Amino acid sequence: MSSLPGPGPTGAAGAADPYSPGQVPRVLAGREVELGRVRDRLGRVASFGELAGPLLVFHAPRGLGKTSLLRASEREAEALGFASAWLACSRERPFLAELAHSVDRALEAVDLAPEQRRSWRDRMRGLSLEVGVLGVSVGGEVTGDAADDGDHDVAAQAPIGALQDLLGEAARAVRARGGAGLVVYIDELHAASADDMSTLLNAVQNLDGARADTPLTVVTAGLPVTPEAIVRAATFGERSAFVPLDVLSPADARHLLAGPAADLGVAWSSDALDLVLEHCGGHPYLLQLLGSSTWTSRRPVGGDVLDIDDVSAGLPGAEQQLRAMYAARWAVATGLEQSFIVAMAAAGTGNITRAAIAREMGVDSRAISVPRDRLIDKGIIEPVGHGLVRFTMPGFDRWVRDRDSQ
Ligand SMILES: Nc1ncnc2c1ncn2[C@@H]1O[C@H](COP(=O)(O)OP(=O)(O)O)[C@@H](O)[C@H]1O
Ligand SMILES: [Mg+2]
Repeated sequence: MSSLPGPGPTGAAGAADPYSPGQVPRVLAGREVELGRVRDRLGRVASFGELAGPLLVFHAPRGLGKTSLLRASEREAEALGFASAWLACSRERPFLAELAHSVDRALEAVDLAPEQRRSWRDRMRGLSLEVGVLGVSVGGEVTGDAADDGDHDVAAQAPIGALQDLLGEAARAVRARGGAGLVVYIDELHAASADDMSTLLNAVQNLDGARADTPLTVVTAGLPVTPEAIVRAATFGERSAFVPLDVLSPADARHLLAGPAADLGVAWSSDALDLVLEHCGGHPYLLQLLGSSTWTSRRPVGGDVLDIDDVSAGLPGAEQQLRAMYAARWAVATGLEQSFIVAMAAAGTGNITRAAIAREMGVDSRAISVPRDRLIDKGIIEPVGHGLVRFTMPGFDRWVRDRDSQ
């Protein structure tokens, strides 16, 4: 890419590493279908000035590229004249107040007249208070129609109404200034509390009831538990558009490696690409990690070709980083969960049956539901249908077996 530094003047230092393990990539490989899903919505908002709902939810284990996808889509949206608000949920921070602030920041980028700005700020303060005070005890499924029977519902309705107003007014303000509309990105949605999730779903659902004048869309991402958490928060949440992210295809994985190098005039031999793919499958984080370790082992300059010796020389560095990540996953598991992990690793690589895990643990297969569910929540394992589970990070099973045999 044109903004990257070129090869060093002496050649000894080589060109700067263009890979980005753990950061948003310079070149987003693949994901055309998924970007297309967001583009469809942006198109509807831009063309009709109306809400493009329901919630769009990308879900996948860590490292598969959810945040990278949302960021790439955000760049596209801004180029199309959208204002974008960005929020990453966390169990520690109040969701609705954070959302209000990110919408406020999005409006800063839109050139509101000073008096509009002042009146928006006043409204914001009011809404933040409302949301901050009442946002603590919303429960169950509350729709616009169920508003007025009993104190609880009235209290519960307030943050929904406040959020509805906030999103609707912000979206209209963007449009009034000649923008296309507002797009709200919510990352790590699985970390939102059930109350906050319910408020968000209800607000978007209510806005959908009068979508004509609401130039808005909401795009989210979270761990594989997210769809379940959404449906638990509000049954109508099942109408959200759920899109799983899978590993990259071999062609996209090759592009992830070759694309950023080609921008610096550096090529990969096809053997070297094959070797990296053999180690990483299509896992984007691992590909970035091995791309980076290969690059730094060679420090190539324009015209060089990375080969299998460079990949091999970089492997120890990458493995060291991986071991640290495996150890971090192990450390967040409780004793019972660790027993489950050990049993699952002992049962083999790939998709493992519940029965095999229970057998290894020496218990009845009904007894393992709790650690299984918690490990899914933590993003360490994921269900793959028919009672099968697998580790979300390739190589973790081998690390656990090695650790266990020491
Ligand atoms: N499509 C992609 N093309 C290139 N790199 C990617 C892609 N998807 C993810 N990555 C890389 O993989 C790593 C993890 O991506 P991230 O978006 O943080 O995943 P998630 O949010 O699902 O945990 C990052 O280093 C990022 O650069
Ligand atoms: Mg992420």
